[in-house]
Amino acid sequence: MILLLGGSGYIGSAFVAALKQRALPFVAPRRGVSDYTRFDVLQALIKEHRPALVINAAGFTGRPNVDACETARTETLLGNSVLPAVVGSACESIGVPFGQVSSGCIYTGARVTVSGRVTIERDLNSPEFRARLHADPGSVSGFTEDDQPNFSFRFPPCSFYSGSKALGEEAIEMFAEKYVWRLRIPFDEFDCPRNYLTKLQRYTKLYENINSVSHRGDFVNACLDLWSRRAPFGAYNICNPGFVSTHEVVQVIREEIAPDRVFDFWRNDAEFYAHAAVAPRSNCILDTQKLAAAGVHLRPVRDALKHALQNWQPEPGALAPVS
Ligand SMILES: NC(=O)c1ccc[n+]([C@@H]2O[C@H](COP(=O)([O-])OP(=O)(O)OC[C@H]3O[C@@H](n4cnc5c(N)ncnc54)[C@H](OP(=O)(O)O)[C@@H]3O)[C@@H](O)[C@H]2O)c1
Repeated sequence: MILLLGGSGYIGSAFVAALKQRALPFVAPRRGVSDYTRFDVLQALIKEHRPALVINAAGFTGRPNVDACETARTETLLGNSVLPAVVGSACESIGVPFGQVSSGCIYTGARVTVSGRVTIERDLNSPEFRARLHADPGSVSGFTEDDQPNFSFRFPPCSFYSGSKALGEEAIEMFAEKYVWRLRIPFDEFDCPRNYLTKLQRYTKLYENINSVSHRGDFVNACLDLWSRRAPFGAYNICNPGFVSTHEVVQVIREEIAPDRVFDFWRNDAEFYAHAAVAPRSNCILDTQKLAAAGVHLRPVRDALKHALQNWQPEPGALAPVS
């Protein structure tokens, strides 16, 4: 038995599908019926169902995007920083392990290794970084789970959303029996306003940057695999190995489903932030070797993107572009 929190959400619903596919029994209470954000309610739920694992896929992400978290600060902190601590406390009080869905957005940039010396490049759009990536791609690597978050309240600037997620990880540091599953820019084959591939097709103008990204189904299956394999507790970056630029993703969209589509891009960061974003955005590369070392292997990022687009299931009547 698994107790799933946030099962009605974008990520939670993928957990529901994966749990059903694996024939793993689960319960997924909704806040409106049983307010699991309260310690006493959650503790009672755990006592009642005696789950082998609690999955916390609940949180506050902001709609239509993270800019909404800049003003909805109380809800953001309650959903992303306080709730994980409540879940951890309730689980520990009964002796049940839990998995927290976290985010790779607590980092920005990438690691650059030159002559054995590692530095952090925060701006993956800087001409120097792009030149280095072109000339010596092997010198660029992702943040590992041992790297301290660098897009957080402790290391500003950050978005309020990212700050709250980093704080949420800190709030559960004390609990031994937990997984921290870091998701990064979810996508899959199901056209939906939350899907990165849908967003790229619907925005009127796109923002160029470089990121690691996570196939939603691959992500939830990797989380469940870590638990079922009894992999060591701790943090795991769970994205498809590698990284892609927005231009590269757009190229795959053109190749697979929209050969004639013209995509318009903001000219630079200044134009993007002046017209389309309030909070600073995290753009980062994550290292996935710890996940692989635990025996959980995701498809390389380009294969996963290509496969999602080859199996694209458009949402009827949902093609209108949005800014
Ligand atoms: N989507 C992304 O791009 C992304 C990327 C990286 C990480 N994440 C993380 O993944 C987790 C799930 O995100 P999601 O995209 O699935 O979010 P979502 O679609 O908004 O679903 C979140 C679910 O959490 C529950 N919830 C509990 N407290 C809440 C609160 N204060 N405000 C809003 N909802 C609350 C709600 O379920 P009920 O009310 O029905 O119980 C809701 O359906 C979050 O921790 C998020 O930070 C998401």
